[in-house]
Amino acid sequence: MNISKSLFIKALNKEKLTTPPIWYMRQAGRYMPEYRNIRKKFKNFLDMCKNPEVCCELALQPINAFNLDAAILFSDILTIPDAFGLGVEFIENEGPVLNNSIKTANDINNLIPFNPDELNYVYKAVTNIKNALPSNIPLIGFCGSPWTLAAYSLEGRSSKNFDKTIAFINNNEKEAHLFLSKLTDACFLYLRKQVQAGIDVIQIFDSWANILNADEINNFSFNYIKSLIVALKQDPVTSNTPIILFARDPKCNANTLIKTSADCISLYWSANNFDLKYARDKVALQGNLDPKILLQSNEIIRSETKAILDKFKNFPGYIFNLGHGLTPDISPEKVKYLTELVREY
Ligand code: CP3
Repeated sequence: MNISKSLFIKALNKEKLTTPPIWYMRQAGRYMPEYRNIRKKFKNFLDMCKNPEVCCELALQPINAFNLDAAILFSDILTIPDAFGLGVEFIENEGPVLNNSIKTANDINNLIPFNPDELNYVYKAVTNIKNALPSNIPLIGFCGSPWTLAAYSLEGRSSKNFDKTIAFINNNEKEAHLFLSKLTDACFLYLRKQVQAGIDVIQIFDSWANILNADEINNFSFNYIKSLIVALKQDPVTSNTPIILFARDPKCNANTLIKTSADCISLYWSANNFDLKYARDKVALQGNLDPKILLQSNEIIRSETKAILDKFKNFPGYIFNLGHGLTPDISPEKVKYLTELVREY
């Protein structure tokens, strides 16, 4: 079957469908026993990401378990900071740590140039996954937004408020912008290579959009996402690849997200005042069940899911997903239950 006839691509083209396509952010991960079995063979998470055969197996696990409508490349957004030499490591119960994080404005001026060939292991994983997937299941490639990658690179680790990052961008605005443009160029080259290797759809994760206020968000994040999307739409290699934008709890209105020219907006779980009328025929929408609902009873899962499906019932181009990623405390049984619910609706 031609990929353009798949439910997921049809929805991204803003077609009205009777059953929405389904996939889940972080659909491959620690909540699955199959994943944990493979994970325990690797000390450092990034070493696992550097093994294209293993990445292929991991990307297929949720497809085989839940019969989803799209697969996502198994990798991480921190591959780009790693290729910039920032020394990414994942420490148990702590998350990512960047051993050579950006500390001064000079670190940005002296940054080594990004070489997309450093990430050949990612493109190899893409090719392997594409070859292993049924021909009707599209593969999503991805990157972090320039802002989200800058936040990890400046903070050196995950953080609640990213205080160091906010102080840095306020005290070194010129270099902050230089860094964001270097990251934007890197994201473009990286996604272009992912498309050449076989991905069908792009998702940009702006996972730390929430730490910027309404004044800062365009200046430090969305302007760079916009440039990235313009570059992708202008390049013959990437111009036909649909782009989904996920931003975590952005402190701005829906129009701002739509103005990035993304083809689809992936709604955060609390985005309940999103203007569907305004979005109609401009973008496809994806989302947005609160992943925490999957820790509740089947009755609650059913009523919350029904409310979301009712809301998007007449929206042309709707993809069912969560409003953020699946977490390790969620049971695969609940994911199965949810998927069946949406298909039966
Ligand atoms: O199915 C999939 O989505 C798998 C591919 C994938 C991973 N990370 C694997 C992963 C994707 C698309 C990501 C994106 C990613 N990585 C984001 C954006 C999505 C979001 O949640 O907002 C972010 C912010 C990261 C950075 C990151 N990676 C953190 C903060 C952590 C540690 C916290 C955690 O959840 O463990 C990771 C590690 C990570 N990335 C794991 C997986 C499966 C778990 C690592 C492990 O098994 O130890």
